[in-house]
Amino acid sequence: MSFDPQDPEFEYLAVDRKKLMREQTQTFDGKKACWVPDPKNRFAAAEIQSTKGEEITVKLNDTNETKTFKKDDIQQMNPPKFEKIEDMANLTYLNEASVLSNLKNRYVAGLIYTYSGLFCVAINPYRRLPIYTMSLIMKYRGKRRIEMPPHLFSIADNAYQYMLQDRENQSMLITGESGAGKTENTKKVIQYFAHVAASAHKDKAEEEEEKKKEKKVEIRTYPECPLNVTARCVTSPYLKLESPPCSHITSFTAFLSFTNWYFVCHLHQR
Ligand SMILES: Nc1ncnc2c1ncn2[C@@H]1O[C@H](COP(=O)(O)OP(=O)(O)OP(=O)(O)O)[C@@H](O)[C@H]1O
Ligand SMILES: [Mg+2]
Repeated sequence: MSFDPQDPEFEYLAVDRKKLMREQTQTFDGKKACWVPDPKNRFAAAEIQSTKGEEITVKLNDTNETKTFKKDDIQQMNPPKFEKIEDMANLTYLNEASVLSNLKNRYVAGLIYTYSGLFCVAINPYRRLPIYTMSLIMKYRGKRRIEMPPHLFSIADNAYQYMLQDRENQSMLITGESGAGKTENTKKVIQYFAHVAASAHKDKAEEEEEKKKEKKVEIRTYPECPLNVTARCVTSPYLKLESPPCSHITSFTAFLSFTNWYFVCHLHQR
């Protein structure tokens, strides 16, 4: 870990350690705790009461109601030590109910980014969170993924570092249903590169000069579809997509030419 958990800038990125400790020490019976189908919340936490052939009778944690389900419809629950886990690939039971519950619990705590192996899952917060500041960009810069709380900046930074190190193109696939936040997150990735890639090749005087003028970032798309991005200045978080990608295209590729190499950013639309 190479960030300060007391740093208020991580309020919407890292779990509150004190609260987490309390949650992680809750009593838990691994033989009884399970997830059962629930018409309202998709899955509900329950405790196994008895088993008869292929049927299991449980008591729902929230309502104390007793219900019977087929064995196959029941999913195992992870112990509380996995509560709000940052990388779901580390869950003992990687089932749908556990993944949904972890994402939901993190979201309720204000954390929209969670890893699942190589993927970074983002949930739309439908509000502006202070997690895309220049200061946070600097804090994520050059850090390994495991050192920092989950963030799109970490994925972007790692790809950028691999590009510099291996001199090979990198690609990021940003996918999700309509309204999930693909465009918003793509803008944040571009913002990250605009800052990191541009400032890496400038001295202080040049940077000051850049601050004064608008900078055009070249983006080429495939299929041919103009996508002009204006970064007001390389050190400002402001980036505007002047023309959004055509709604009918199924995917496009943006080439950011900051250096001699290209960064390829794939955006896939359903
Ligand atoms: N990380 C975020 N922070 C704040 N608001 C967000 C974020 N992600 C999404 N939103 C909000 O949700 C809206 C929809 O997101 P966005 O336009 O990125 O969806 P999309 O996946 O590109 O949808 P479509 O496939 O229809 O183009 C945004 O206009 C914004 O208000
Ligand atoms: Mg979009």
